[in-house]
Amino acid sequence: MTRHVSLELLPLGRTLFVPPGASLREVLFEAGVEFPCGGRGRCRGCRVRVLAGDLPMTGDDRRLLDGAELAAGWRLACRAEARNDLKLELAQWEARILADDRTFEFTPAPGLGIAIDLGTTTIVGQLVDQSTGNVLAVESALNTQARHGADLMSRVEFGSARGGGETLTALIRGQLEQLIEKLLETQPCRRGELRQVVLVGNTVMHHLFCGFSVEALGHTPFESRSVGLQILRPGEVGWPLSEEVTLRFLPCLGGFVGSDILAGILATGLHEAERLTALLDLGTNGEIVVGNRDGLLCASTAAGPAFEGARISRGMRAASGAISAVRLVGDKIECQVLGQTDPRGICGSGLVDAAACGLDLGRIQPNGRLQGGADWELVPSVALTQTDIRELQLAKGAIAAGLRLLASQLGASLEDLDRVHLSGAFGNYINRASARRIGLLQAPLDRIVPAGNTALLGAKLALLAPPDTDFTYAALQQRIRHVCLHEDPAFQETYVDEMGFPVRTPERCHHAMR
Ligand code: FES
Repeated sequence: MTRHVSLELLPLGRTLFVPPGASLREVLFEAGVEFPCGGRGRCRGCRVRVLAGDLPMTGDDRRLLDGAELAAGWRLACRAEARNDLKLELAQWEARILADDRTFEFTPAPGLGIAIDLGTTTIVGQLVDQSTGNVLAVESALNTQARHGADLMSRVEFGSARGGGETLTALIRGQLEQLIEKLLETQPCRRGELRQVVLVGNTVMHHLFCGFSVEALGHTPFESRSVGLQILRPGEVGWPLSEEVTLRFLPCLGGFVGSDILAGILATGLHEAERLTALLDLGTNGEIVVGNRDGLLCASTAAGPAFEGARISRGMRAASGAISAVRLVGDKIECQVLGQTDPRGICGSGLVDAAACGLDLGRIQPNGRLQGGADWELVPSVALTQTDIRELQLAKGAIAAGLRLLASQLGASLEDLDRVHLSGAFGNYINRASARRIGLLQAPLDRIVPAGNTALLGAKLALLAPPDTDFTYAALQQRIRHVCLHEDPAFQETYVDEMGFPVRTPERCHHAMR
């Protein structure tokens, strides 16, 4: 019998038994640990600390981790193998996943339906009773494709290589099959009543699920022709469901702007709004929609991963141990940490707050320079560096420039926006006053509204809509024009302008914790 070695994972409280020499990347990925650069040894996002046992130092450890970290036992999991029993502390914790539970009007129909928001990082599915509109079960998971890269471009790069596309397609179809099975297991007497599955996701997820090539999305003009509504039968994707079940992947809008944003438009009613309205989905790829019932413009900007805590020296996702909020108390800062634990890093919402406080305190200059050029220690274990501030400026500058340009193409300014909906997890947790203070959002505070998981809500609306609604999507798709920001000569100039921080905003006297 093969002897196994044990891997005790803290603070998850789980112990895995794996064959000696097993790749930590493989086994930890199964335990929910993410590998942001796809395990290429580029990002530090997979750090583990050896509390017991031995994990030899590699060249990549020495390149990406500093002396103090190495001495403290930190190693890159993607470069390591389990050769003896190990007790490891993970730098990542389980993430908060945003689901939607709002009510809405619907057309009753018999049977069950499943709405799925297929995200680059997370997947959320809801089992819905189509006769009542009630959600019967919710399942969420981290996208298993992430082992081949955390961001869209890594996924496109892998998917464009020989055999890569087939691998990613098989992974996502297999994972969704399991997710659907888990949802149906909650209703054992009704599993035969499943009628349809509606999926939404960005263009890359759409292509990979449907089995289309992502090659065209890897180079300019980043456009693919296979963006329409896809109607499939379970057999076509290898799912053992009745062939009576219909699968619909809603259409993409152009470039990287996918049906998750179309669903967001449906969920927020942007296409029916009388006044000028915007929808922002803030992530690695910031998606922006501006318009009203007379027409809509959409675009995506490569905002970089700062809002997700990536490429920030002490950055982490919004999970236990993350500084998620920072406020000023007099001339001192006070940090709020997720979970009952010591601060380990900072997530996107904390970063935006910290920058806002830094500007108010004069620790950060409007041009982004840190006072005296030294790192700014928020708490003894977490400091912001000059590079961190630059990453934030790049991210917020891209979003702010995109929003301004789309509004100007409609002959409007940001002051003309009647409402700005913030979708997704980050939009839900961000302090709007801080976002305004750093110039990420420049609309008045009372017009900025967190909108939750609009992609999932839109998918559910599609599930419960009358049968001829597919025509409506096509009509709606025609009314939304995709703008390639990188082809707009004004974009670079506006981007550079928007990278600076506002000198001050009159309404901001203090921060309030959310
Ligand atoms: S260094 Fe990026 S996943 Fe390990």
